[in-house]
Amino acid sequence: MSGKYKDADDVLLRKFTAVLQTHPNIGQRGYDLLRDPEKPGRATVVRRFGSFEAAKKLALPDGGTVANVPHIPPVFIDKKEGRLDWREMIRAAITQQDIIRRNSWSQDACKVEVPTSDPIAVAYTSDEHLGSIATDYTAWLDDIDFLLNTPGLYAVSAGDMIENQRAFKTVSAVINQIIPPDLQEEIVREITLELFVKNKLLAAGAGNHDTEFCERLYGKSNVEKIISRLVPFFNGKGAMELTVGNQKYTHLIIHKTRFNSFLNALHGAKREYQLTLPADVVVTAHTHKPAFEMYYQYEMASEIGMGIGPYSLLIKTGTYKTEDAYSKRYWTKGVIGTPTVVYMPDRREMTVFRTAREAVTYMEGIMGKKLAGQLPAAKMRVGT
Ligand SMILES: [Fe+2]
Repeated sequence: MSGKYKDADDVLLRKFTAVLQTHPNIGQRGYDLLRDPEKPGRATVVRRFGSFEAAKKLALPDGGTVANVPHIPPVFIDKKEGRLDWREMIRAAITQQDIIRRNSWSQDACKVEVPTSDPIAVAYTSDEHLGSIATDYTAWLDDIDFLLNTPGLYAVSAGDMIENQRAFKTVSAVINQIIPPDLQEEIVREITLELFVKNKLLAAGAGNHDTEFCERLYGKSNVEKIISRLVPFFNGKGAMELTVGNQKYTHLIIHKTRFNSFLNALHGAKREYQLTLPADVVVTAHTHKPAFEMYYQYEMASEIGMGIGPYSLLIKTGTYKTEDAYSKRYWTKGVIGTPTVVYMPDRREMTVFRTAREAVTYMEGIMGKKLAGQLPAAKMRVGT
């Protein structure tokens, strides 16, 4: 060995030989796994001698010297060595990604059209929290029946239709449910079907209770699965272009914005308008107190026909969970409120009302006919 290699190589080869004498069968990866700080790493050996096998031949030209080793090492005839082809793995990931994305039912943006020459009203609802002991079921029943029975009245659900408390930092949130979570999901299935059959629901978005809680516990939301099969479903911020007659009204729908103000219910909607999408209607939910505001912005953009401005409606939905102990302890009672917007089909005109009833009364005035209570009961039940 000496003479053929430099001194440093001799030292390296001696160390390498020492290891091989006790592990003459060892392969490249197994050698690295020995993790002995004294031994040269595989990369060093390969760099000095061209390849691991070439170095091995130099170190053990006769296949290994075990004369001084009393213990006979076993010979692994066909020891398998794992090998990861990272390019192959990434190519497989891209294929898998494509399959999963094509199988997804939720979306970030949608276009919905109501081909009509009449005005329509859209009720923005959320935070029903069905299943909670704190929910005002009488008020909710009244409102959902009004929605189901009134032609020209539609709804967008902004999340948290059910309480869905399966595990929480305070046990009281879990035990203060009067309908078990799995039955709450069945209620969502039945209501959504009924709304779908009567062509009432334009789109829906995920809330923290109905979606995030399940994602936290077992990775997926059953509510998302139920609703997304029927109408456009946003699992996060959602953009909707709603065409009414020949008018387009853009929407940004978010259950829980990260921008909140205790004093200004619409601060989050305003920030989302500024930072996410300057839509005609920005809807946020989650804080259980309804509010709305006419927000004048982008007048110049409107003047040059850019399709945004000069005014938008910022909306915060209310709740039906009025007697929430948590909310009452740290803030105030929840407030019922379903801000409802009347959209004109032939001119850009949006008018917002506190409740669906007020909006429908206005629409009845415009149209000169009674709408409320005109639709027959839905023919249920429809299987999925
Ligand atoms: Fe919420």
